[in-house]
Amino acid sequence: MGERRGLKGLQKQCSATMLLLHRAVVSAFRHACRFKSTSSKLCIQACSTNDSFQPQCPSLTFSGNNSSTRGWRVMGTLLGLGAVLAYHDHRCKAAQELPRIYTREEVRSHSSPETRIWVTLGSEVFDVTEFVDLHPGGPSKLMLAAGGPLEPFWALYAVHNQSHVREILAQYKIGELSPEDKAPSTLKTSDPYADDPIRHPALKVNSQRPFNAEPPPELLTENYITPNPIFFTRNHLPVPNLDPDTYRLHVEGPPGGQSLSLSLDDLYQFPKHEITVTLQCAGNRRSEMTQVKEVRGLEWSIGAISTARWAGARLCDVLAQAGHQLCETEAHVCFEGLDSDPTGTAYGASIPLARAMDPEAEVLLAYEMNGQPLPRDHGFPVRVVVPGVVGARHVKWLGKVSVASEESYSHWQRRDYKGFSPSVDWDTVDFDSAPSIQELPVQSAITEPKDGATVESGEVTIKGYAWSGGGRAVIRVDVSLDGGLTWQVAKLDGEEQCPRKAWAWRLWELQAPVPAGQKELNIVCKAIDDSYNVQPDTMAPIWNLRGVLSNAWHRIHVHVRANP
Ligand code: MTE
Repeated sequence: MGERRGLKGLQKQCSATMLLLHRAVVSAFRHACRFKSTSSKLCIQACSTNDSFQPQCPSLTFSGNNSSTRGWRVMGTLLGLGAVLAYHDHRCKAAQELPRIYTREEVRSHSSPETRIWVTLGSEVFDVTEFVDLHPGGPSKLMLAAGGPLEPFWALYAVHNQSHVREILAQYKIGELSPEDKAPSTLKTSDPYADDPIRHPALKVNSQRPFNAEPPPELLTENYITPNPIFFTRNHLPVPNLDPDTYRLHVEGPPGGQSLSLSLDDLYQFPKHEITVTLQCAGNRRSEMTQVKEVRGLEWSIGAISTARWAGARLCDVLAQAGHQLCETEAHVCFEGLDSDPTGTAYGASIPLARAMDPEAEVLLAYEMNGQPLPRDHGFPVRVVVPGVVGARHVKWLGKVSVASEESYSHWQRRDYKGFSPSVDWDTVDFDSAPSIQELPVQSAITEPKDGATVESGEVTIKGYAWSGGGRAVIRVDVSLDGGLTWQVAKLDGEEQCPRKAWAWRLWELQAPVPAGQKELNIVCKAIDDSYNVQPDTMAPIWNLRGVLSNAWHRIHVHVRANP
């Protein structure tokens, strides 16, 4: 309170400074909104950002636990308070003025950086020019809505319907639509996901639209081959509904050569190749990385990984038929899906040509999953399967294959699915500076018992999975019951695999006596692959802003039932 009174005085003396501070505050607010949790929390109850705004005094609390930083904290608090009061002052003035009124026509005329970029949501008008470059989905996605309503895009990317996204947007409000333009936009906002398939109720849903879901841990390792209905699903867009009779896969030929337009029947004419492959999303176990510091992305638990028998034509056979050869210069095979956003931009990704042309790499244009036609969620009628490589390159609903001297220009190849140092944040990240993820690092997780469960005294059974990218076989899984002080080796189950072609996971199990008198256990697992790569012990040193490649030791904590 003392600090607050002092700052009220500061507010009176520093009205000139406040204008300057306002800019800093807006930027600080953006940061605060982007990273909701920080080690020290500045809790602000100031101007509400909604329509029912009532000017009120800001109340602030500041908490931190490092006494050596107290001086800085006080100074920071003072500056922060001054800044917040300045912001409050600015917002109060804005609130006292009547909102500026704009017509839809005026909004429409603000659709480029030169004219500034305006959008509407409901009856509110926002100038998002400064935010375009900060848009997590990339500037081009936000530009789709420039000069018009956000609703049709938010319906497609439902991740926007969260309070912190609305808070960010509220900072850019500049006025209201005129009463005659307040009527809902004439643009259809019909649900683009209405035609998505029906899903299995056991799936743990991380987002409905687009659909992203994982099997619960207790089902994940029930079977070596994951049943199709509970195979994890990672969609970025609505699921296309493709007619197998009219489906064509376009394969571009080399310069001067002929392109192929392959029907499903044409694909069936290539030798059928069948392999067991584990697919893992780069974001698997992101929820554990988030505990170190917030990251952007879906909160995957340990289930963004599954295994299937895939059958189809080998990509190298199809590329050869189109006249491609392994060239000496670096080249990439680009894949385009038939799922697309409202501008027609399709999901896309690429892999090096060398991998695609290598028969031993067994890259498939798969049309069967566990002996069935691919389910719609998993790419019906044809998808790419790239053994040993991150899930993002296994393009579903495959429409086009081409060979280029550069990687795919897709957002998901160039602006996502890359790893960075823990020191890189959204203000400093340079996506061009990092290679796209291809082969994934060694991984393992405990699926039984569940974190927080109570186990019987006497003996405990611990189960899980382990996998490594690039065809590297898992040679051992170590399990600890005491947080990593002592280790026991688990028994590996599942298919034996060819050297350098270990595309599928190993399931593992350990039955271990519970040490007498133990009330709780800190169970940990780590896998080792045949290059002797091992998982890092903690998440903090591998933290990255997108929360990918999260493969630290998996740790769970269980209680031991007391003997009667
Ligand atoms: N292909 C298309 N066309 N669209 C997508 O959204 N998602 C990719 C990849 N292929 C995606 C795609 C990602 S990020 C992953 S992890 C895998 O598909 C997931 O495959 P699954 O849903 O069959 O498990």
